[in-house]
Amino acid sequence: MAKGKTVFFCKECGNESSKWVGKCPACGQWNSMVEEVVQKKSAPAGWSRDSGKEKAAPIKISEVEAGAQPRFIFSDDELNLVLGGGLVPGSVVLLGGEPGIGKSTLLLQVALKSQGNCLYITGEESAEQVKLRAERIGIGENGCLILTETNLENILKSVSSAKPDFLVIDSIQTLYTEDLEATPGSISQIRECAGKLIRFAKEENIPVFLVGHITKDGSIAGPKILEHMVDTVLQFEGDRNYNFRILRTHKNRFGSTQEMGIYEMTGSGLRGVKNPSEIFLSERDEQIPGIAVAAALEGIRPIVLETQALVSSAVYGTPQRSATGFDLRRLNMLLAVLEKRCGFRLGAQDVFVNIAGGIRIEDPAMDLALVSAIMGSYQSMTLPPKCVFAGEIGLSGEIRAIQRVEQRISEADKLGFEDIVVSKYCRFPDYKGKIKIHTFSRVDEMFGWLFG
Ligand code: TYD
Ligand code: MG
Repeated sequence: MAKGKTVFFCKECGNESSKWVGKCPACGQWNSMVEEVVQKKSAPAGWSRDSGKEKAAPIKISEVEAGAQPRFIFSDDELNLVLGGGLVPGSVVLLGGEPGIGKSTLLLQVALKSQGNCLYITGEESAEQVKLRAERIGIGENGCLILTETNLENILKSVSSAKPDFLVIDSIQTLYTEDLEATPGSISQIRECAGKLIRFAKEENIPVFLVGHITKDGSIAGPKILEHMVDTVLQFEGDRNYNFRILRTHKNRFGSTQEMGIYEMTGSGLRGVKNPSEIFLSERDEQIPGIAVAAALEGIRPIVLETQALVSSAVYGTPQRSATGFDLRRLNMLLAVLEKRCGFRLGAQDVFVNIAGGIRIEDPAMDLALVSAIMGSYQSMTLPPKCVFAGEIGLSGEIRAIQRVEQRISEADKLGFEDIVVSKYCRFPDYKGKIKIHTFSRVDEMFGWLFG
């Protein structure tokens, strides 16, 4: 048998090369070329760059007709929010996430519960398996159409005859097109199938959800250009030891990337969580040293959550520092500030911090709660009950202003907290609530108030 033609593709940018090279000439990435067998169909005779269907001529932007296309609104409010207010007709949404996190569950649930007519195409499970899952979730009045197929040409034919309102493809890595000889899941197949689907979506005005696997380092498997090609990239994440899941936007051509949706995995599918703080705060009767509550933002949603710290004398020569759900370098910086600016001798102490609930937060406003928890544990003193912290700490020990402070204050107030500590430099002119607001400009000043 003749050996198929092989070429090399860059995993990062999809650049094609006939020989292996250590560094991609297009994007400059090292060691990103992989070999794949391809056999492209030859272009039809007489093909030239000019022989397209219709030539597009440039027109003035003011003359472009843009009828307000209604977005498709799902019954799932979290998904609508993340998509920027519903699904835009003809858009392509890529949903990535670790295996078993719930991508198939989320999209099947959306397919079953939406008002429209959905075609759910799976190349990963049999129709019976999907049915079993659908029974757990509850098949709505509409239900949806199921197709188990991995051949792209057949899929496009079925879609043209079924005319669904939207399409779910689980997953892009299982598809293949007959135009290429490469195996499903290879870079050339993913790129080609995605390209054809995107063209199809735009021409037929049918929105498409694509499920994408992710690799060990957390990026979506396949070429990076897949993410450039689609309109929206969503990431479904969460700690599998906990029940909640977060749906984030990494890219959205039709909305903000600040939004996020929170779900809880239950025995009967995913449930949208309206009030995220409820899952991150534990019910406790008595105060414990080393626990402080932070009013953080995740995207643009305020979340009130618990930070925990444990400070104990180091047994070994080098003290240990460990952070779960928080950036370790930032923790080290905060410890240095406490040591240098406030005079606490933490150099010989092990410090462990943890953000309760298994969430990962990057909001700098967590700093204030974290240092309060650390100092509480160090001095074995409890913090005032029902007190929340929101502030960033600078290198000189100053408490810096944070964004959306009013939103955080009102969230804490709504949850029944009685005191909130923020920076002196924050502005909240219109806030009229029950919660008592304490402002400080320096960390040592705040410690004076907390620990006397
Ligand atoms: P799944 O959607 O198959 O994940 P992915 O497609 O991202 O690989 O999620 C499977 C997990 O979800 C599995 O561990 C079981 C759990 N699950 C529930 O807890 N409740 C349910 O109602 C369903 C359908 C799944
Ligand atoms: Mg799946």
